[in-house]
Amino acid sequence: MAKIKTAFFCQNCGAQSAKWIGKCPSCGEWNTYVEEVVEKSVSGGAASVKQRATAARPRLINEIEAREEERFSSANQELDRVLGGGIVPGALVLVGGEPGIGKSTLMLQVALNIPDKKVLYISGEESELQIKMRAQRLGLLHSNCYILTETNTENIFHHIHDVAPDLVVIDSIQTLTTPSIESSAGSISQIRECSSEFQKYSKENGIPVFLIGHITKEGSLAGPKLLEHMVDTVLQFEGDHNHVYRILRSQKNRFGSTSELGIFEMRSDGLREVSNPSEILLTSRDEPLSGITVSSTIEGMRPILIETQALISTAAYGTPQRSSTGFDVRRLNMLLAVLEKRCGFRLSIKDVFLNITGGLRIDDPAIDLGVICAILSSSEDIAVSDKTCFAAEVGLTGEIRPVTRIEQRIAEAQKLGFEEMFISKYSLKGIDQNSFSIKLHPVAKVEQVFSLLFG
Ligand code: TYD
Ligand code: MG
Repeated sequence: MAKIKTAFFCQNCGAQSAKWIGKCPSCGEWNTYVEEVVEKSVSGGAASVKQRATAARPRLINEIEAREEERFSSANQELDRVLGGGIVPGALVLVGGEPGIGKSTLMLQVALNIPDKKVLYISGEESELQIKMRAQRLGLLHSNCYILTETNTENIFHHIHDVAPDLVVIDSIQTLTTPSIESSAGSISQIRECSSEFQKYSKENGIPVFLIGHITKEGSLAGPKLLEHMVDTVLQFEGDHNHVYRILRSQKNRFGSTSELGIFEMRSDGLREVSNPSEILLTSRDEPLSGITVSSTIEGMRPILIETQALISTAAYGTPQRSSTGFDVRRLNMLLAVLEKRCGFRLSIKDVFLNITGGLRIDDPAIDLGVICAILSSSEDIAVSDKTCFAAEVGLTGEIRPVTRIEQRIAEAQKLGFEEMFISKYSLKGIDQNSFSIKLHPVAKVEQVFSLLFG
């Protein structure tokens, strides 16, 4: 007979302890330990030896047959891109995001749209009718998609057995319960157990499973970090509620790069893929405005033009404010210090606000020059032409440094009708300047850019 055992789990990080503790030694949170019933079958001795006999055996790496994973397309280019080129059979994918961001919409849209595949969409959050209404709203009703509203994993696996789907979507992992554990849905041990059941299922049957996961108030994927360890891919769906654009990025991907971005627009009839993000991320300006520049950045494999806005004003209170959205504030401080030292701007007494438009978060150092020029433009109140683009990193001595894949960046700017581009002098090496019609300004120092732009 299986023995019932209880243990204490930190509701914040999932750490386990045999007794209650006030402060979690692993994440430092207070009062997060909750007793949960864990059913552990007694193992060891003869039983475990028997188990071992049927388990996998060690094999020489050369003996293992290598074959390309046969990915299949989700019929959604942006999702395919973020996944690294399509859905890998047997992959367990976690899709996280804040409530209302559009996780259910995205996954239902994929479920309804995917050609020649049987999809089982399991929802523990919405009724069949609600899902049907959503599907009608998405306008896709001819499809091979089965809906199941069930939260008990034992029943779910019965239905999976009957339906034999090619793809399973679970909305959401926090609503599921497994009968082998008594604690309530959404608790750490339930999430862990349910996920591992699906992990086992997807690996054994080669069926991809998408788990939708909630996000905690701190902004991390709810439940536990351990969920992120278990799955093959972690996708994060983000974006501002006020923005119509949604960004899908991968935080972990065993089958592809994590630097790819998928961009969607939320419309009244569902999510639309945005295949040319540069066009939507740039605001059209009727008159020249100071404090705005455009930089050519690369997200994953794709060049994207993004707009940086800066506002410099005299500090109203003693300590000047530094605020930035979508750009690392420490990097902003560094760039301000460079400007202060190299160009003699007294920015330390000014408030500086920086914003990357479109709700994007950019880590690419190639936008440094654009950021600096937006700051100077606002500080001098002289507009930079909306036909000018930037792509270079700025170093501590004010030197303009080259960035990777400059040709792609230039080509993107040229494609979108930009006429001038500031790049590092050292980027010119190895590129054929004559192949571009855009006018390139190779620069080596911040001072140089300043005099070229603002005289
Ligand atoms: P939803 O997918 O329910 O979010 P999540 O599952 O991440 O909690 O998305 C709900 C939001 O999306 C809701 O605010 C309404 C909006 N929405 C649209 O704008 N258009 C649509 O076609 C649909 C289905 C939803
Ligand atoms: Mg939902």
